[in-house]
Amino acid sequence: MCGIVGYAGFRDCSEVLIHALTKLEYRGYDSAGIAVFDNGKIKVCKSQGKLEMLKAKMEREGRPQGHVGIGHTRWATHGEPSDVNSHPHSGAKVTIVHNGIIENYRELKEFLSSKQVKFVSETDTEVVAQLLNYYYDGNPLDTIIKTIGELEGSFALGIVFEDFPEQIYAVRRESPLIVGVGKGENYIASDVPAILKYTRDYYLLDHDEIAVLSSEGVTIYDEHKEVVTKQLMTADWDEDAAEKGGYEHFMIKEIHEQPNSINMTVKPRVEDGLPNLSECGITHENIKNFKNIFVVACGTAMHAGMVGKYVIENLARIPVTVDIASEFRYRNPIVGKGDLVIIISQSGETADSLAALRLAKSLGAKTLAIVNAKGSTIAREADMLIYTHAGPEIAVASTKAYIVQLAVMYLFGFELALAKGRITEEKCRELTSALLDTPELIESILKNDLEKSQYISTQLITADSLLYIGRGLDYALSMEGSLKLKEISYIHSESYAAGELKHGTISLIEPGMPVIAVATQPELLEKTVSNVVEVKSRGAMVVLITREDFKIDENAYDYRIDIPATDDTLMPMLAAIPMQLVAYYTSVLRGNDVDKPRNLAKSVTVE
Ligand code: F6R
Repeated sequence: MCGIVGYAGFRDCSEVLIHALTKLEYRGYDSAGIAVFDNGKIKVCKSQGKLEMLKAKMEREGRPQGHVGIGHTRWATHGEPSDVNSHPHSGAKVTIVHNGIIENYRELKEFLSSKQVKFVSETDTEVVAQLLNYYYDGNPLDTIIKTIGELEGSFALGIVFEDFPEQIYAVRRESPLIVGVGKGENYIASDVPAILKYTRDYYLLDHDEIAVLSSEGVTIYDEHKEVVTKQLMTADWDEDAAEKGGYEHFMIKEIHEQPNSINMTVKPRVEDGLPNLSECGITHENIKNFKNIFVVACGTAMHAGMVGKYVIENLARIPVTVDIASEFRYRNPIVGKGDLVIIISQSGETADSLAALRLAKSLGAKTLAIVNAKGSTIAREADMLIYTHAGPEIAVASTKAYIVQLAVMYLFGFELALAKGRITEEKCRELTSALLDTPELIESILKNDLEKSQYISTQLITADSLLYIGRGLDYALSMEGSLKLKEISYIHSESYAAGELKHGTISLIEPGMPVIAVATQPELLEKTVSNVVEVKSRGAMVVLITREDFKIDENAYDYRIDIPATDDTLMPMLAAIPMQLVAYYTSVLRGNDVDKPRNLAKSVTVE
């Protein structure tokens, strides 16, 4: 999704903006641009393509010189990626950058056109720039308040007014925006990594709050022009955490960070060997009576919910429905008082997940958010909140955020089962201790299975299509394995319940087709292996991910990846790792942009 930055201070503004935009590249973009006050006049430079193209253009056309300005990386929604559709967009007196979607831009455009306003781009953003310009009466604050009163949809805006060359203005509704606070310099940004080189202190803007920044300070107003006092936040990680640290890609670095992320997430929530989520607003009393649980999320986060369903249903015996957020919000779900709706989101800003959360609340359900990004909208709006402590996840393909989403689903599942009296304290301690041991086991997988995964990837790179199969928890996990592989390798892949293959899909199997089978559950082993044999005997090239202590006939597979054994319920925490490695190396070998796969954005803040 689009990235916004802004700077008012003493440094070379163009340099700061480009650096900050580089730190937002992970969000995905197809064009970029900046606007800087150069000798009191706004100078815009923008270009389709990557930041390198913008930098080259800046060198060709003369780099804007100044200390105040705004910048943007665009992920096209209205109008193709092109120089003219790139941000910033301007009216005569106003220049803006925008993240989000203005739903009523057509009506506004018609209105402005009837007032002889001319447009040069196809974007909804230019309509906002022209509307601001239309209402501009010499007072930026009044102008912004009047303009946003007419906007429907989501936006985070960075705004500069030609008459106020010392200041930048920022306002948001739905789309994220922070205000970074330095000494003699201040910033705006869509996300914290953009400003970490300069400061770790920031404010979170709330809906319809307007920030006015200069080198001298920051003032934040509400929509009635009242000054708002905000709590200053401090990022608990520094720039190094958002750097590659010697790894070739963020994705492989983040895969290796998983043991630490699990420790950070789980350890503080264990007391006397048992889960303790009371700092998250969760007690036995307030969770034991839910009739139904819904887990609502998108993509990888939804897959974490799939594993959570098996865990909660098995241990706590409460029915769990897992929903894709974009489906849940429009399917008139039967949810209400007495139900719990769990929203899982790394970014905490995913538009569909946020809408699902609001819908669940409006229907009277209690909501629990499992979120990685501190202070994000989903985190702030849910009734109960468990933060995952993965740290910043930069690679678009989620790995460490997924593993800690799983870890939290386990912790919550254990606590719920205990609260409901479905498991004994002793069993709960056993499970919690096994969860605490997973980081060490993951370390050993990363050591022992790396080369094998690399080799297996060499066998996958020419495939047109492949299947992931498994049963039970292994099926839930293989959904994530399949998504990981397809999103970064661009090889078509599907996950299938192994027992369902013969009801149609097995006809796809032809000699050489890769099938990645996951078999970690002792009770289902025999059945999964018989499905594996069925595809193998039809020519499939089978990669089996299984427990090192399982004895399986060597003729049943072509390659075997062994993972250590732990409690059966927790096996997905371990089996996820070789899947991530295989996806990563396949993408690398195919020469893809691993961290920024085509067409994808890290944070999906539009429907
Ligand atoms: C895939 C991936 C996505 C996200 C999905 C939800 O690797 O990362 O499928 O899981 O877009 O995003 P969040 O968790 O931010 O709500």
